[in-house]
Amino acid sequence: MKGRILVLFCALIVGAQAIQAPKLTLCKEEDSACLTKTASIIYKTAIQGVPELNLENLDPMYIDKIPGDLTGIKYELSNTTIKGSKSCDVVNMKLELQKSKLWLDIICPYLDMFGAYDVFGKILSIPITGNGDYRIECKEYHIRIDTDTKISQRKDGRKYISFKSYQFNSDLKGGMVSNFTNLFNGKQKELADNVLKFVNKNWKPVVKELQGPVFSTNLKKLIKNFNKYLKSVPLDQILVDF
Ligand SMILES: *[C@@H]1O[C@H](CO)[C@@H](O)[C@H](O)[C@H]1NC(C)=O
Ligand SMILES: *[C@@H]1O[C@H](CO)[C@@H](O)[C@H](O)[C@H]1NC(C)=O
Repeated sequence: MKGRILVLFCALIVGAQAIQAPKLTLCKEEDSACLTKTASIIYKTAIQGVPELNLENLDPMYIDKIPGDLTGIKYELSNTTIKGSKSCDVVNMKLELQKSKLWLDIICPYLDMFGAYDVFGKILSIPITGNGDYRIECKEYHIRIDTDTKISQRKDGRKYISFKSYQFNSDLKGGMVSNFTNLFNGKQKELADNVLKFVNKNWKPVVKELQGPVFSTNLKKLIKNFNKYLKSVPLDQILVDF
């Protein structure tokens, strides 16, 4: 029994060391360019997943339900798949430890999401109802995440950073193409075609109005992975003088 525990213990240590694989350059807190490189590596790792850390791969990302309960329109997306997160890039990271603040700017060149939808209400004062399959393709999403961070010291004596809360802003710059089958439950084909055309033509305000719930759900998963991963990266491997 003792032997077995020792083997298990060694395996854990070896495992823990193997996970620290992506080499990070130590950065100064105010060196945004350096931190951006670090954040980029951590982002890619968090999306790719790390089986040893029980971190699931997030590209494709699967989301059971996205409830969108907005003024004037209610929608629910089920069985959603989102592809393309791994090609997103962290283009800026800023850190202010004293204020417990960390900012990330991420650009996603192409995101493809599809699944089932159910919608009822008005979009930009145009009535829209129905349920069926949907597909939405987005080009060049700019996402800013403002986070409040927490630093905690663990039993190993080292300090670790995590995201305590966050807010986001997202701006779609390159355009969106969407398709919803069975709008108006297939009963008014011409109206359905016109509404779909309207949505595609007015993608910018449509996205502004509808994107919130999708991003909340999506980012919740991403931040969860970030936090799980950051438990394996002590701050002394990220920052100088820590
Ligand atoms: C979502 O997928 C599950 C399992 O494949 C299926 O049972 C369910 O009907 C799907 N929901 C919708 C709204 O398509
Ligand atoms: C929307 O999807 C349906 C079913 O996949 C397809 O038949 C239709 O051509 C698509 N419409 C557009 C505008 O892409």
